[in-house]
Amino acid sequence: MTAAERDRTPVLCGLGSWVPPHVVTNDDLARELDTSDEWIRRRTGIAERRVVEPGTATSDLAVEAGMRALKSAALESVDAVIVATTTPDQPCPATAPLVAARLGLGPVAAFDVGAVCTGFLYGLAAAAGLITSRTAGTVLVIGADTYSTVLDPADRTTRAIFGDGAGAVILRTGSPDEDGAIGPTLLASDGSGSDLIRISSGGSRDPIRAETADQADPFFRMEGQSVFRGAMLHMAEAARTVAEWQGWGVADIDMLVAHQANVRILHAVADRMGLDRERCHVHLDRVGNTAAASIPLALADAVTHGGLRPGHRVVATAFGGGLTWGASAFRWPDITPS
Ligand code: UT7
Repeated sequence: MTAAERDRTPVLCGLGSWVPPHVVTNDDLARELDTSDEWIRRRTGIAERRVVEPGTATSDLAVEAGMRALKSAALESVDAVIVATTTPDQPCPATAPLVAARLGLGPVAAFDVGAVCTGFLYGLAAAAGLITSRTAGTVLVIGADTYSTVLDPADRTTRAIFGDGAGAVILRTGSPDEDGAIGPTLLASDGSGSDLIRISSGGSRDPIRAETADQADPFFRMEGQSVFRGAMLHMAEAARTVAEWQGWGVADIDMLVAHQANVRILHAVADRMGLDRERCHVHLDRVGNTAAASIPLALADAVTHGGLRPGHRVVATAFGGGLTWGASAFRWPDITPS
């Protein structure tokens, strides 16, 4: 590696998070649907989730998280904004330019990444690429989703799991020896499983038209058990692989920050890796599955409540629709989430 390349290593330097204030408990859901607090806690580990009020869009959450990440990094501007989301404000245009404008960032590069629950890791890798290619010196990466806006109100399974939120990080240029330097990252997909997590109507395959509207299905659907198996296998494998690329054994990992889908999945991932369950951070009990926001929200919670400290060896991993999955390894930097 040349000296110039060493100075272009992407390094984490800010972290912000935001969840909407409205709390929906399991008992709230049980008043509307055939479910119970006992079932949801036992099968998912989730106690409550946050849900936007009608009229609040994904960009509203993304702006809040972005503002806080800028504050955490003590920066007023960045060179590029990436928003990872599959619940954009509208199908066209992307949400990121709107977020950049509302943050007052001027005419910066801004685009969305759509990799469902793996979106944040795809966004992080894209941001790292912008830095190493000298396209940008600082990048704001926001994972933001409002799945409550695409769930079938009558579907007890998805409504029990998903919540809304946004989390954001900032990458700057630095050196590979610094805490926060983004280490090896693995990204993968298997489109043959694209029907396992989907919104069938409203895209180019099945546009919603007045004459066929009664056959359209505009809601988010998930084949829970197949997704469960895929999440467990691929997150464990991806996490183990990036740790190995980084030169860490499983015992060296201080904290695994896995996509917060279901506490049974988190425990199964830890068990498959041979990692102490205590090292796998759990945040979903309070926010549910927040899709692209899940990893940055979990990182912020891990710093505030989970004992994540500068120098700790972190592996982040995710799995989601596409199917997509990935993982990244880094040592935690000395930053205070906002
Ligand atoms: O973010 C992307 C990644 N997403 C995930 O990783 C999610 C992965 N999947 C899961 O977390 C689990 O599969 C679920 C939580 C979605 C479902 O849990 P499960 O233990 O796999 O349940 P199941 O689908 O096998 O269903 C068992 C029973 C069914 O009833 P019958 O057919 O046996 O009578 C469901 O209808 O549980 C029923 N059920 C519920 N019962 C009460 C499903 N949802 C609920 C509910 N309350 N909310």
